[in-house]
Amino acid sequence: MLEARGLTAGYGGGRIIVDGVDIDARAGEVVTIIGQNGAGKSTLLKGIFNMVPVRRGSVSLDGAEVFDQRPDRLLAGGLAYIPQNHSIFPKLTVAENLRMGGFLLRDQRLLVERIGEVEAMFPILVERRDEYAAGLSGGEQRMLEIARTLLMAPKVIMLDEPSIGLAPRLVDQVFQTVRTLAEQGKAMLMVEQNVKKALAASDRGYVLELGQVKLHDRADRLLADDRTAQLYMGARPGGTAPSAEAPEGRP
Ligand SMILES: Nc1ncnc2c1ncn2[C@@H]1O[C@H](COP(=O)(O)OP(=O)(O)OP(=O)(O)O)[C@@H](O)[C@H]1O
Ligand SMILES: [Mg+2]
Repeated sequence: MLEARGLTAGYGGGRIIVDGVDIDARAGEVVTIIGQNGAGKSTLLKGIFNMVPVRRGSVSLDGAEVFDQRPDRLLAGGLAYIPQNHSIFPKLTVAENLRMGGFLLRDQRLLVERIGEVEAMFPILVERRDEYAAGLSGGEQRMLEIARTLLMAPKVIMLDEPSIGLAPRLVDQVFQTVRTLAEQGKAMLMVEQNVKKALAASDRGYVLELGQVKLHDRADRLLADDRTAQLYMGARPGGTAPSAEAPEGRP
C-alpha cells in the first residue's frame, strides 16, 4: 500500500538525515519505526510526506508513484500524517477542530456523514463537542487528531509519537485505537519511543539508526531480539539508554 524506496531526506546544508530507507506499510497492519533521539524518525515521515527541502527516492501509494505530489494531494489521495508536535487548535471547539480535517472535502453531505462515523467511533468527541479543545486531556487531544484525520478516509495513516506525554492507561488506549484502525483495513505507520508497548501493538517494526534501517522484522521477533533490547529498552551496557516506559528528557 505505502512503499518508500531509497528514501533520502535532509534539510539543506548538504547534511543527509535519512539515508536510503526502504519501508512498507500494508493494509491491515501496524508498523512501528523505533530509534534513538535524532535517528531521523520524524524526518523519515516528513520525507515520505514531501515536507523536507532535500529528498530523493520513490514513494508509492497503491502502486502509483506519488513522490512529487504535494502534501495536500497526498492527503486527498489517501495518505495522512499526524506530526510529532501536537496540531490541535486549542482555541477552537472540539467540533470545529474535527471539521478542519474535512477542509479538502467539497461534498458537504459526505463531510457530515463522515463526521457522524467518526463521532460514533470516539464518543468523547460528542460529549465535549462544544468545549474548547484546550480543555481536553492529552489523550483526548490525540484521539481528536486521529479522528480529524479520519475525515479524509485515508488508506494509510502515519503517526509521529502518538503516545508521547500520555499516562500509561491512555497510551494503551491510543495503541488500541491504532490497532482497531488497522483491523478496519488501514495501514498504520507510527514512530514510537514507547518501544515495548508500541511493538506489542504492531505487526512489524523497523529500527532506524543514523538515518538507516538497522533491523527490520516482525514485531514479536524485534521485541525478543537482544539488539533491540540493548539499544532501546534500557539494557544497554555502560550507557543510559532511554527507558521504554518513560523516555528521559521527553516532555
Ligand atoms: N527543521 C530542521 N532543520 C534542520 N535540521 C533538522 C530539522 N529537524 C530535524 N533536524 C535534524 O535532523 C536530525 C534528525 O531529527 P529527527 O527529528 O528526524 O529525529 P527523531 O529520530 O525524530 O528524534 P526524536 O526521537 O527526538 O523525535 C537531528 O540531528 C536534527 O537536528
Ligand atoms: Mg521525532
